[in-house]
Parts: sequence; C-alpha cells; structure tokens
Amino acid sequence: MARAAGWLAARLERAGLEDVALWPTAGHPAVYGHWLGAPEARTVLVYGHYDVQPPEPLELWETPPFTPTVVGDRLYGRGVSDDKGPLLLTVQVLGALLAAQGRLPLNVKVLFEGEEEVGSAHLGELVARRAAELRADFVISADGGMWSADFPSLTVSGRGIAAMEFSVYGPARDLHSGRHGGGLHNPLHAAAALVASLHGEDGRVAVPGFYDGVAELPAEERAALAALPHSDAAYLDQTGAPDVYGEAGYGTLERQWHRPTAEVNGLWGGYTGEGSKTVLPAEAHVKLSCRLVPGQDPEDVLGKLAAHLRARTPPGVRLELRPGDHTGRAYALAPDHPGRRAALNVLRDVYGQPALEVGMGGSIPILDTFRSVLGLETLLFSFAVGDENIHAPNEFFRIGRLYEGQEAWARLLWALGDGG
Ligand code: BES
Ligand code: MN
Ligand code: MN
Repeated sequence: MARAAGWLAARLERAGLEDVALWPTAGHPAVYGHWLGAPEARTVLVYGHYDVQPPEPLELWETPPFTPTVVGDRLYGRGVSDDKGPLLLTVQVLGALLAAQGRLPLNVKVLFEGEEEVGSAHLGELVARRAAELRADFVISADGGMWSADFPSLTVSGRGIAAMEFSVYGPARDLHSGRHGGGLHNPLHAAAALVASLHGEDGRVAVPGFYDGVAELPAEERAALAALPHSDAAYLDQTGAPDVYGEAGYGTLERQWHRPTAEVNGLWGGYTGEGSKTVLPAEAHVKLSCRLVPGQDPEDVLGKLAAHLRARTPPGVRLELRPGDHTGRAYALAPDHPGRRAALNVLRDVYGQPALEVGMGGSIPILDTFRSVLGLETLLFSFAVGDENIHAPNEFFRIGRLYEGQEAWARLLWALGDGG
C-alpha cells in the first residue's frame, strides 16, 4: 500500500501537479495534488482509489493477480478495472494537457484514497479536517463504472451500504455431536434460522421497518428502465447463474439499482474440512451487508436489523452483534447538475452514440461524505465496465478504454472549463 501511494504521488508530480503529498490518515494515506492556475474557472475535485480487493481465491486466476498481463485487448490483474485503470487515465490526461498547453482549462484538485474497499473508514475525518483545502464546485469520480461494454453510459445513482457481523455461541467448546446432540442448541442451526428469517418467500427483506422511507420509483423512471437494452438471458449468460431471483414485483434492473437488499456475504462454523467429524459446534459466524436506497439511513437500518436478530435468537444460544465498518447513504446525481449534460455530450461525442443514464448497484461510501461534509455533488465518470470481474478472479480492463477515457476526460475538462 505504501509503495502504491508513493508511486502515485510521484506520478502526479511528473504529470505537473503541485503541492503533491501523501495525506496521512489513521489508516492508509490519501494522495493529494492540485493545479490551481485558472482563477476565473471552476474547480473540480478528482476522486479515485488505489486500494483493491484481496485476490483470493488465487487458484482461479489464469494470470498472476499482481503482474499486469496483456491478453489480446485486455489487461488482467487485481484492481486494473476497480480502480487503477480508470484512476491512472485521469493522471495521464492531466499530464498530457499540462505538457501540451502548459495549463488546464479549469482548476483541479486530486484526491486518491487507499481505503475505499474497506469502507473509507478514515477518509471522512481527513475530508472534514481538510475541508478548506478540498473546496471545489463538484467532484468527478474515476470510480463508478459503465453498465455495459456495448453502450456508453453515465451512472447517475448508486446504492448505499450498511454492514454488520454476528456470531452465535453455544457450548464453550466443540462437543461430540452424539454425546451432546439433542441436549444443547446448535449455534449453526440458530445462525441458519436467523439468516433464513431475513427474507420472506416473496424475496422481500422481512426485517420490520426495513422499507420505511423507501419510495416507489416514479412511473417515468420505471419506463426509462424498461427501455434500456437489458435482457435477463444475457445477464444469466454473463453471470453463469441458472435464473434471476429477487423481490417479487420488480424487474432485474430495478431490483439491482433502486431496491434495497440484505445479503449474506459469509457464513461459517463447525467442521468444514475433508471427510466428516461429528461435532456440535461451539460457534457460528455470519457477515452481512445491506444495500440502501434514498430514504434509508445506514444506522437506522443496522438498528432494525439488530433488533430483528435479537428478537429471533432462540433460547440455548447467545448472540453477539458487531457493526461493520461499511456505511454510506445512497447517491443520486441531481437531474439539473451542470456536469450531467456535459458528461452526456462528451460520451456521445467519444462513442458516436447517445449515452444511457443508468444506476449502480454498488456503493462508493465516501460520496455521502462529499455531500454532507463538503456540500459537493459527485459526477461519476469511470471507464470501467460492469463485466470486468471486479472483486473476482481474472479481473480485467479493456485497454481501448484507457484511450476512450483519456479523450473523454480531456473533453469533459474542456467543456467544464474556461474553454467550454
Ligand atoms: N467501484 C466499486 C463500486 C461499484 C461496484 C461501481 C459495481 C460500479 C459497479 C467500489 O470499489 C466498491 O466495490 N465498493 C464497495 C464498498 C464497500 C466495500 C464498502 C461495494 O460496493 O461493495
Ligand atoms: Mn471502486
Ligand atoms: Mn471495489
């Protein structure tokens, strides 16, 4: 992480940015730099992250995860799509513009963080402390991602997130399941029942109050969703799942972008090695995360989830809840935001076809902080595509997107700047 941050700082300096520095946090540092030579023009804050998800399971990678490898028109490696490729191309553009013109069309501050994938736990404090230095008109994010490789798209919404873990404890140690089975509760059974209690048969989250404040999508937006070139069959082909599934009464895209979810991310306990071992396990563990939509508050949702789990815990076991470190409200770009039209025009010009407006099922927790602490909206302008195996083995980035992204960022900065 330290080497990546140092490399990035050197790269920003080489691009011609000023006051380049590693901004320490209680976790991994953020990398900052700026160019402020256009006093009459806007100021944008460019955001991205240089941290990545762990590469495991290693045996499923066809190329080494940390050796960037070109195969055809793709670059393979952990983080190439999320978010190193999209981040790097912004630095390349800034460097190219400064080299060619000696200036930029507007003021640019760059903030690249190293903890997005762990919920930006320490960035909020940094942003609050350095609010004056981060003052800008709005944020442009190199993280986000396009929906499809076949159509240019602008992501105008993203879901929030609230995570927690819980453990169920029974006896003080694993016991013989014959000697003790039938006499004590089994923590894995209790954990499985708690997990099962999170959803109804209709696919809806069964936690009381979970949907409080969640509005139905307006009819025009539903119609716009239905008009997008989505096919469940193609989606199943891409993901390898046998069928789609989810909350009854909503289409796949609406469920992914505009409906909240509760998702178990991990569930373990007992004997999981080869062969059998007849134990009554001492404990069971669950990691879960909820995706949130506008109207939901992460702390409120976690509170309701905790109350639900406590109320459902059967006798004979003890429940322990631990809040996760991932929280952030949902994100939505204002319809009249000045960056919106500019970005749509740029994408149309670069790709030669109109850009779609799409949602994002994933979360970028710091966007909430940019809005609440700095008062800034964020324009997502990433050139990653949603099928590039992010967080999974064989993550890749389409090399052509480096160049499309560079052209688009250059055009966008011009459109927003004093030349536009
Ligand atoms: N870049 C992603 C968010 C994303 C996901 C954008 C899918 C477009 C499509 C981001 O790096 C991410 O993975 N966020 C995490 C946040 C979590 C770890 C707090 C997420 O959404 O799970
Ligand atoms: Mn990302
Ligand atoms: Mn990610």
